[in-house]
Amino acid sequence: MSMKNIVVLVSGGGTNLQALIDAQENGIIKNGRITCVISSKPGVFALERAGKHSIPTRVIPRKEYPDVTAYSQAVLDAILEENADLVVYAGFMTILDELVVRAMPNRMMNVHPALIPSFCGKGYYGLKVHEEALKKGVKLTGATVHFVTEVCDGGPIILQKAVEVKDDDTPEVLQRRVMEQAEWIILPKAVALFCDDRLEVRDSKVYIK
Ligand code: GAR
Repeated sequence: MSMKNIVVLVSGGGTNLQALIDAQENGIIKNGRITCVISSKPGVFALERAGKHSIPTRVIPRKEYPDVTAYSQAVLDAILEENADLVVYAGFMTILDELVVRAMPNRMMNVHPALIPSFCGKGYYGLKVHEEALKKGVKLTGATVHFVTEVCDGGPIILQKAVEVKDDDTPEVLQRRVMEQAEWIILPKAVALFCDDRLEVRDSKVYIK
């Protein structure tokens, strides 16, 4: 099996990136390596995490581009230059144009901090997702890893994991529990399955071989 080039897209703290780096070092991800980390913002801690592990980084600031299309083209150019086999959105907070999806069909995955189709779609990102879950009073939430399509948070679901909500949760406390008990586990697992050629997409559903 050939080694896959993984490009990770980030915008912030990068704890999900860290989970991927750890999984690579622990041998959970065997048939892939993170070859580049791309950030939509300069100065974020995710870049330091990459640097500490000598992973090349690129900053493509969203602010420097006039619109989504121009930004998407710049990110796509970088992805293609890096010869990416897989692109992982790990806390990447910018929606990209269809042109990127079309160039990388079923080769981009995203981690979302809820059980899709709950609390997802445009406007649902970061803490906002957990605020809405608490507002609704759901007893279970969780995380989802899915392939990226042109529909925001609408692509084929790869893995999900449920997490309990407690009465005294704040959005911050719930966010942390969802990360620890779900995101940091299922994201590396999904990446490993992809790199081992074990994910098959049929009729918009993912089957694990
Ligand atoms: C994570 O909870 C991730 O699921 C979420 O942002 C956080 C990023 O944390 N992503 C989204 O909401 C995307 N719609 P991190 O930078 O520490 O990985």
